[in-house]
Amino acid sequence: MIDGKKVLFSGMQATGNLTLGNYLGALKNWVTLSDEYECFYSVVDMHSITIRQDPAELRKRARALLTLYIAAGLDPKKNCLYYQSHVSGHAELSWILNCFTYMGELNRMTQFKDKSAKHGDNINAGLFTYPVLMAADILLYQADVVPVGVDQMQHLELTRDVAERFNNIYGDVFTIPEAYIGKVGAKIMSLQDPSKKMSKSDENPNGSIYLMDDTDTIMRKCKKAVTDSEGVILYRSEQPGVKNLIDIYSACTGKSAEDTVREFDGKGYGEFKMAVGEAVAAILKPLQEEFARLEKDKAYVDSIIKENAEKASYYASKTLRKVQKKVGFPARI
Ligand code: TRP
Repeated sequence: MIDGKKVLFSGMQATGNLTLGNYLGALKNWVTLSDEYECFYSVVDMHSITIRQDPAELRKRARALLTLYIAAGLDPKKNCLYYQSHVSGHAELSWILNCFTYMGELNRMTQFKDKSAKHGDNINAGLFTYPVLMAADILLYQADVVPVGVDQMQHLELTRDVAERFNNIYGDVFTIPEAYIGKVGAKIMSLQDPSKKMSKSDENPNGSIYLMDDTDTIMRKCKKAVTDSEGVILYRSEQPGVKNLIDIYSACTGKSAEDTVREFDGKGYGEFKMAVGEAVAAILKPLQEEFARLEKDKAYVDSIIKENAEKASYYASKTLRKVQKKVGFPARI
């Protein structure tokens, strides 16, 4: 609890271009949570180096992501928006938690299995202990809730197990975090393969709409979206392509799936795809304009980065000092 509010933690990696899926599924909903929770949203750059990165590119993307957090409407006075690497407590707590996490537990992580299969030439220890760093992120702020996608659920379960293990030995040190269940964001699928999640690492650029795509590109991608030969606009799993477009349209306009089906009753796919493209462009345009404005206001963004890193460090060191004492590190004189 901070000032009577529950604490919420989440983070995103600054790798790849963020997609409409990231926005509608996560970022857009984060904005609505800051009244109810004390929110920490980190740009998790330390996680990114588990895969080899170009340094200049990582720096640029990290800055862009933090700027995007603000552009998306996260008020930096109410939400703590910061770089993970600016708060040394993440690394320090991560080391301690490493000593309370079993090899067997990490071996079971499906993301590790996937990533090590994909990056066979660089299966580093950081990739293996990635979930421990994630546990440190969450536990450092005594987070009560963590909004995560299904792909990160296993890591959150591990976080809870490690926290409980620690608490069983040393008393109530960590808050046991829960997955945020509330109004979750829409799960947006690839426009080219609606059985796959829209992903920033998709090889087919037509599958994803990127947040910085211009209107023409958005329209083109929507027009090319895979549908089916049914020829009717209905919200059902037999028509995954159409269903996905309805989800996108609903998320962008705030209309329900049923209303959308009614609105396009008897209309063709071509017309519907145009409407989807327009709805997407309408929601991304103000975001892009605000992003461009903030990018120019370097001093303002710098000040946010500095202030919020200090705020995060303050809360992080409170937990860290407690943990260090519990495990037996000598007091500072
Ligand atoms: N691993 C998460 C992802 O790739 C990002 C992340 C890092 C995170 N630390 C976190 C998410 C803590 C929630 C809480 O999506």
